[in-house]
Amino acid sequence: PHLQFDGVTGELQFEKTDLSGLAQTYGTPLYVYSASSIKEAYRAYASACEGLANVTICYAVKANSNVHILKALAQEGAGFDIVSAGELARVIAAGGKPQKAVFAGVGKSAQEIEYALSQGVGCFNVESEAEMTRIGQVAEKMQRMANVSLRVNPDVDAKTHPYISTGLKENKFGVSMNAAPRVYQFAHAHPWLNVHGIDCHIGSQLTDASPYFDALDRVLALLDQLAADGIEINHLDLGGGIGIRYLDETPPTPAEVLPRLIAKVKDWAQSKGRSMPTLSFEPGRSIVGNAGVLLTQVEFLKENEGKHFAIVDAAMNDLMRPAMYKAFHGVVAVQNNAHAQPQEYDVVGPVCESGDWLAKNRTLAIEQGDYLAILSAGAYGQTMASNYNSRGRAAEVLIENGEVTLIRRRETIEDQLRPELDV
Ligand code: LLP
Repeated sequence: PHLQFDGVTGELQFEKTDLSGLAQTYGTPLYVYSASSIKEAYRAYASACEGLANVTICYAVKANSNVHILKALAQEGAGFDIVSAGELARVIAAGGKPQKAVFAGVGKSAQEIEYALSQGVGCFNVESEAEMTRIGQVAEKMQRMANVSLRVNPDVDAKTHPYISTGLKENKFGVSMNAAPRVYQFAHAHPWLNVHGIDCHIGSQLTDASPYFDALDRVLALLDQLAADGIEINHLDLGGGIGIRYLDETPPTPAEVLPRLIAKVKDWAQSKGRSMPTLSFEPGRSIVGNAGVLLTQVEFLKENEGKHFAIVDAAMNDLMRPAMYKAFHGVVAVQNNAHAQPQEYDVVGPVCESGDWLAKNRTLAIEQGDYLAILSAGAYGQTMASNYNSRGRAAEVLIENGEVTLIRRRETIEDQLRPELDV
């Protein structure tokens, strides 16, 4: 909603700021984010749960981990879903509270666990029996209680891209429903482990809400089984995954999903005579995805045997999603070019790979030097960027109330060479 063409000039604007001006001032490729969009997306989650239950929205840092964005979310009251010591360090640098962070991921090292415990991390979302054992050992060594939650795999089909679906039994994530009671018994008996909750995350870019309800049914059935074995769990983390519109998807809104999930938990608790559990969610993409665009400049237009290419200065190292998932991202010219003829292009980057494309078969009226905006680039854009082809990472700016702040300077070749020359 904050991304619009100006009615008079035809200029593409984000929060009423001309994107062509930002491209000129900061250079390209450039990630541009709208703070209002981020905050509104966060508030949509917070207000969907208001008055219904005790819910923490733990923003999934992997979607966009820029410290300034984390800071804005921490100020809104968000908790954080982290998957590495590095992400926890970012949360702390942003002024977020480790106590409000949950630590997920299938391969936590002993050093990471120790760091997280020393910082007072809220909870470990544990993904295997071996990991539970390791956390118990580290906690014992540090003589510090570790809060644990078991990530269970409810084996529901999230009906999303196979690379980002995580809740099926063939995925590497979580523990099966069958194995969960045994792992809980181990944790329950361990003097340095505190069984805090249960969690599941079934996939990303979900456009249909029904898998959430199926997953919740299975989680609640497991809680009954655990209660019968004397393990009472009073916290549910239902993961992230609500999709965004890239093209014409119509994902459910938090207001359509969260109250119904909460109601289901409430009914269950009432029917069992239990107190209402606390809840958390871990949205990433739906908070930042459509709050960011990637600006790029056309370097050359080129024709090969009737096929037209727009070669731009952003590439797969800046935005990996098209190359990796064949993901669709909208592409629009930032300014109206009255001299150019509409033509169908593949928008490609300078990296030496055939897979280095950002968009295929898009009709654009452009010339060399024009700026393009790659849309819906706020999530899993810069966080998945690399230095492939020794390309420096893009700069990032944040717009807030018409004020533009550089939140990451463009990476230089010196930045890239330092770890190799500093040996
Ligand atoms: N919680 C857990 C345990 C997760 O694994 C994820 C994402 C999230 C929360 C946040 O999910 P979201 O709300 O953003 O859908 N790179 C891929 C997406 C990978 C998602 C990985 N896990 C992409 O660009 O589409």
